[in-house]
Amino acid sequence: MKTLEEYILPRENRKFVFFGGKGGVGKSSLAAATAFWLAEKGFKTLLASTDIQKSQNDIFQRDIGSEETQISEVENLWVVNVDPKESIRKHQLEVLRRIESLKDLSSEKISESEVTFLKEYWEKNPVLPCETASYNVFIHYMNNDQYDAVVFDTAPGYHNLEMVNYPWRYVYNLEMAIAAKREVVDLTGKIAELKLLEKLRDESYSAIKKLASDQTIYFVVTHPEMLPVYEVKRIQEGLIPYGIKVKGIFINSVLPEEYCKSGFFFRRRLLQEKYINLVKEEFSDIPIVEVPLLDTEVVSLENVKKLALLIYGSRKG
Ligand SMILES: Nc1ncnc2c1ncn2[C@@H]1O[C@H](COP(=O)(O)OP(=O)(O)OP(=O)(O)O)[C@@H](O)[C@H]1O
Ligand SMILES: [Mg+2]
Repeated sequence: MKTLEEYILPRENRKFVFFGGKGGVGKSSLAAATAFWLAEKGFKTLLASTDIQKSQNDIFQRDIGSEETQISEVENLWVVNVDPKESIRKHQLEVLRRIESLKDLSSEKISESEVTFLKEYWEKNPVLPCETASYNVFIHYMNNDQYDAVVFDTAPGYHNLEMVNYPWRYVYNLEMAIAAKREVVDLTGKIAELKLLEKLRDESYSAIKKLASDQTIYFVVTHPEMLPVYEVKRIQEGLIPYGIKVKGIFINSVLPEEYCKSGFFFRRRLLQEKYINLVKEEFSDIPIVEVPLLDTEVVSLENVKKLALLIYGSRKG
């Protein structure tokens, strides 16, 4: 069985790390700790939050917007947050930039007037089919090669599955649009918009391929309790159609045994053990990591570091 580190470290290729799981189980905290650890290992790392809750601002105690912001105390760590309005505007600008770059496709005859027309059209109609801000951020960073590793902090529940499903839906819509556009091209000879749609489609195909490859590391986080543990199985099954395998499970907020010798905490620990064993039996072929409940919250860089040390510290990277 591969270790956690063997999965995550971007030794041969870029890595995309996801943390799924029920609400409040520690996805944002573990994403922060993992991104911190990767950066400390010398890999240029981006922690990209697609959750509009902006938990990373609270965790790192600073104001992080939709621009990638370097965490000044850590050499290789950047954080970015989705900001719906900003993200849609950014996406629009990106599309306009790509329309501009179509002129460089020397093999195709794309006229200046065609490009100008297209730019004006997209400026007035910025929203793409089934587009949302989080998904823009997601697709953008799946196709950006600036970082060795991108750790995604996603919103709880089915948002995770919606996210991996998005490129598929997007590809479908684009294929339909491309087919319709081809007929227009046959009549008019104008190919600029067709080329643009094909470029957008290719990016989605590229994200789909990376999601199903060993570049994607999908972890599920749970508490040792019935509801989040049952959710683990559902998430694992929900990911199968996309070719994504769960690479490890974090059981978070485990009560330290030494404080659970009797009474209330003894009983609570016993309950936790029941679910820890259940997870271990059910997922015997992937790493299961037990993360203790800390006596602090995972707020501040110091505590992120503490959590990273607890998870990865004693293992060799
Ligand atoms: N091991 C831990 N020890 C102590 N506190 C923890 C631990 N892990 C997480 N927490 C705390 O639990 C709370 C929830 O954690 P977090 O926000 O990371 O969960 P989440 O899964 O991202 O939530 P959401 O589903 O809302 O995005 C936070 O207050 C965090 O500081
Ligand atoms: Mg969160």
